[in-house]
Amino acid sequence: MTESPLQAAIAEHSWLHFTQMQRLIERPPIVITRGEGSKVYDAEGREYIDALAGLFCVNAGYGRREIADAMHAQALKINYVSSFSYPNEPAVQVAARLAQLAPVGAGDARVFFVSGGSEAVESALKVAKQYQRAMGYRGRYKTISRRLAYHGTTMGALSVTGLASVRAPFEPLVPGARHVPMPHHYRCAYCAHEAACNLSCVREIEELVEQEGAETIAAIILEPVQNSGGCIVPPPDYYRRVRALCDRTGIVMIMDEVICGFGRVGYWFGSEHWNVKPDIITCAKGLTSAYAPLGAAIVRKEIADAFLGEEQKKFMHGITFGGHPVSAAAALANIAILERESLPQRAQVSGEYLMGQLKEAFESRRIVGDVRGLGLFIGIELVKDRETRESLHGEAQMGWLSDQLLARGVICRADDRLDPVIQLSPPLVITKEEMDRVVAVLDEVIGELEKQVL
Ligand SMILES: Cc1ncc(COP(=O)(O)O)c(C=O)c1O
Repeated sequence: MTESPLQAAIAEHSWLHFTQMQRLIERPPIVITRGEGSKVYDAEGREYIDALAGLFCVNAGYGRREIADAMHAQALKINYVSSFSYPNEPAVQVAARLAQLAPVGAGDARVFFVSGGSEAVESALKVAKQYQRAMGYRGRYKTISRRLAYHGTTMGALSVTGLASVRAPFEPLVPGARHVPMPHHYRCAYCAHEAACNLSCVREIEELVEQEGAETIAAIILEPVQNSGGCIVPPPDYYRRVRALCDRTGIVMIMDEVICGFGRVGYWFGSEHWNVKPDIITCAKGLTSAYAPLGAAIVRKEIADAFLGEEQKKFMHGITFGGHPVSAAAALANIAILERESLPQRAQVSGEYLMGQLKEAFESRRIVGDVRGLGLFIGIELVKDRETRESLHGEAQMGWLSDQLLARGVICRADDRLDPVIQLSPPLVITKEEMDRVVAVLDEVIGELEKQVL
């Protein structure tokens, strides 16, 4: 195959994130150039169902003229206003909408805008730390998060991230980051072989707080359904217990809704599934359905109010593009679509259908150990043996799996940060026919893998 000028330029000058470029130099990647609904098309015109919604973010689907038009109009009106000095119109409107929609505290919030998920997490951690100081607790600097969780790549967000391989090259990180076990029933060291979770996961958090001393801990950060490890859904009582612990101790509860927000798990925010009200919600991705970069820390009023008063009490943090007007215009148009088309509710209905179809298709597949998730955020865990739950490790197999799916026109994620899991997180507008096609392709490819493995 002769190399196109575009592919030559990729090989020479491009640097993709978390990607071994050697692999792409040796084998040129597809270049995705167009999208419509849940489908994307490469430069050669081949069609794919994007069952990952870009990177868990194109919630309203591709090709939304309404969002593009809103961005165009805003860029012509005014493309930038400094958030260090002035509010801008669309950002003010998005903040007011988020304060209504987000289940933070008593439903009253102030919103700090940034340009993505890592910055949202970074900002939430800084709000929590400065808030604790404002409350007179100078020694509250530690954080609690879960092992294997992914909260982003900037140094603060990386510190609460629990993935050893992502952290290792940059140690030492921000001091005081503590990590607790995941609420992962299928693989739990305490209760995997019991019918239901026995909540040892939440007891681990309570014991850690006791051991470290609540007076040393600023915040706990948790992702409602944890992506890393493969769509890990905590048991019903988990967040109620964490909330009660935070209420007793003054630890700030942060829900990282960068993926779960904006309909992904069947609600505007994942916290709603557990009926829990965190102190801060971080969000990004689906906030604009990835039409423009935007993130936010949605902060309970009582906490935000601690920053009011004398000049030195202000939040000592900012970034040039936080609340960019063009991104904010995209968010407003996106939220209007999610609302008008009831996309969070649609994700609930479609998610139940997709989950049902997957469970039925894989009922007799011996290498499928677990199908789990919430809404349109689903993981399929692969095992060597269903009975023993022995893991199906081997990078080559996961690479093979992704290639096979792509060759059959389906994009999803074959993730082996814990045990191998195929992740599905399609645009919320995915149709029944598209879901059926995804299930059929997965069944075919997993069937082939099963023949190789067994
Ligand atoms: C839960 C969670 N938090 C934070 C981030 C970081 O977001 P970003 O990549 O926009 O910086 C991600 C990214 O995938 C995420 O999934």
